[in-house]
Amino acid sequence: MQHSAVLNVMIKAAQRAGRALKRDLGEVEHLQVSLKGPRNFVTAADRKAEETVRVELAKARPDYGFLGEEGGAREGSDKSHRWIVDPLDGTTNFLHGIPHFAVSIALERDGAIVAGVVYNPANDELFVAERGKGAYLNDRRIRVAGRQKLADAVVACGMPHFGRGGDLALARAEIAAAQANFAGLRRYGAATLDLAWVACGRLDCYWERALSPWDVAAGSLLVREAGGFVSDCDGKGDYLKSGDIVAGNDFMHRELLRLLKEAASEAGKSAIRQASAP
Ligand code: IPD
Ligand code: CA
Ligand code: CA
Repeated sequence: MQHSAVLNVMIKAAQRAGRALKRDLGEVEHLQVSLKGPRNFVTAADRKAEETVRVELAKARPDYGFLGEEGGAREGSDKSHRWIVDPLDGTTNFLHGIPHFAVSIALERDGAIVAGVVYNPANDELFVAERGKGAYLNDRRIRVAGRQKLADAVVACGMPHFGRGGDLALARAEIAAAQANFAGLRRYGAATLDLAWVACGRLDCYWERALSPWDVAAGSLLVREAGGFVSDCDGKGDYLKSGDIVAGNDFMHRELLRLLKEAASEAGKSAIRQASAP
């Protein structure tokens, strides 16, 4: 499979960091039984992975800017280009030895994502895309699922939980709407892989709120290059800024937006009822 030079640089960086994380996963599995647990070990693995990616990318493109979840933003002399990196997406899964996590690298050019890589080292699945050139899983072309019936569809989501705040009432209304309409509801714990799985048709659609740019940058390009649609929860395009995202084929994207809008209205009404209750 012939990729561009810059995509090859991104793939090499993701695989290098991923190999180390796969080794670290073995250690994490051992540490589960220790009283202290593997939290400190995982934090170190996360930071090491980001440094590996940053150094690898800087070797090839020393002037690009860098935004990483662990190290924050670093300006580059080339103001048009910026890497957006989540070195370990699915930290809680990794912490528990669950082999569902990914290294995510996106290249932003003049404010638009032009290349993306999402790599799960646990099962060696490499998702890549470049703007206008399609999306691939291990060099095989991928496309979003073609289903046009909610009752046949499986949807994934993210949700607020202890340690991750959010509008609980809204989340419960949204989940209730999904439960009432879809064949399956899933919460896998790695946003970058949720988007990659929409891109390859394993999931029919996905929504989540309050994500960070590094959670959605690469995965959103995978979905679009696989023929899918991505927006924020109001159907607008600034999900990189808002952190709210809805993804799926044309039908599923539109239907999920409708269900989320109805759920928001329902959550608003119940809030008014509760506020006016004696
Ligand atoms: C998290 C995962 C999770 C999502 C959280 C993210 P992290 O990323 O993507 O699925 O629900 O909002 O923060 O913290 O494991 O890199
Ligand atoms: Ca993440
Ligand atoms: Ca992360």
